[in-house]
Amino acid sequence: MKTLLKQLTETFGPSGYEGDVRKLVRAEVEPFADELKVDALGNLIVRKKPLKGTKDAKKIMIAAHMDEIGLMVSHVDENGFVRFSAIGGVFRRYVPGGRVRFLNGTQGVIGYDRLDNINELPALDKVYIDVGAAGKKDCPVKIGDVAAFDRPFTEMGNRLVAKSMDDRVGVLVAIETLRSLTLPYAQGGASTPHDLYFVFTTQEEVGVRGAATSAYGVDPDLGIALDVTPAGDTPKALKMEMALGKGPCIKIQDPGMIADPRVVQWMIRTAEKNKIPYQREVLLMGSTDARAIQLARAGVPAGCLSIPVRYVHSPSEMVDYSDVQNSVKLLTALLRAPIGL
Ligand code: CO
Ligand code: ZN
Repeated sequence: MKTLLKQLTETFGPSGYEGDVRKLVRAEVEPFADELKVDALGNLIVRKKPLKGTKDAKKIMIAAHMDEIGLMVSHVDENGFVRFSAIGGVFRRYVPGGRVRFLNGTQGVIGYDRLDNINELPALDKVYIDVGAAGKKDCPVKIGDVAAFDRPFTEMGNRLVAKSMDDRVGVLVAIETLRSLTLPYAQGGASTPHDLYFVFTTQEEVGVRGAATSAYGVDPDLGIALDVTPAGDTPKALKMEMALGKGPCIKIQDPGMIADPRVVQWMIRTAEKNKIPYQREVLLMGSTDARAIQLARAGVPAGCLSIPVRYVHSPSEMVDYSDVQNSVKLLTALLRAPIGL
């Protein structure tokens, strides 16, 4: 699982440019898929049909976003310095001193204009990318080229650190759950009474766009998003319950959605019955694909399982491996039994 997470997090995939991630995911899920398609926005939709003989199977959509935050070139000056616009929630506190990589392989380091006050953080329009060019003419990138933050995956004991843990760790949980639902019973796996649609979505970081079109297309009876949630367990953090190593978080609310209380109760019941640790999540900033699913068509009961993360949207997002393992366990337990809301 860690090897795959390393591969997933080290792959390039800012919003709208998820092709490499999709290729990797596709190769992993193809052996377990009953149907597989890519829609117009690039969402990879993987169907797992219910056990033969199941009546009234419910359509469940499980969404995990493939995209990550990134940068897009907006201007190159005469000396070859590159200015950019942000793709998604790029925080200025994490940018200076960072490295980026463009789709064409060009690398860049991030510098900033002279600051009037050395203690301030430069605004994003005071920040530039230095790609090693001597001037505009030999600059290897042009307007509209897309870059992702560049940082290798690393392990620190039970903690795993990488860029784009948001949301490749959710993608990993979806893949591993699909795998576990497909194993023969003799190998400890399970099957499902549901009609499952695992959707690897695009453009979440710019406003849950891929989830919106895929939820319309799939038209599910119930939706679950898999995403990260910022933890409140670091010095002077926002007062939030979520902590690393205490289990998957069951979302109750974030600023973009109120999770369906029946879905929340179903998740809590299942975690308790299977003795899987879990945390109650009320998130004070951000939202997930679950919002788009909930608001699709005439509305869909939806919830979200989150993996707690520190330093979200930095190039060093940190998760605890036990939370990843328990998320797979909980999602598998949810999907292999009837819902009974
Ligand atoms: Co994010
Ligand atoms: Zn996310």
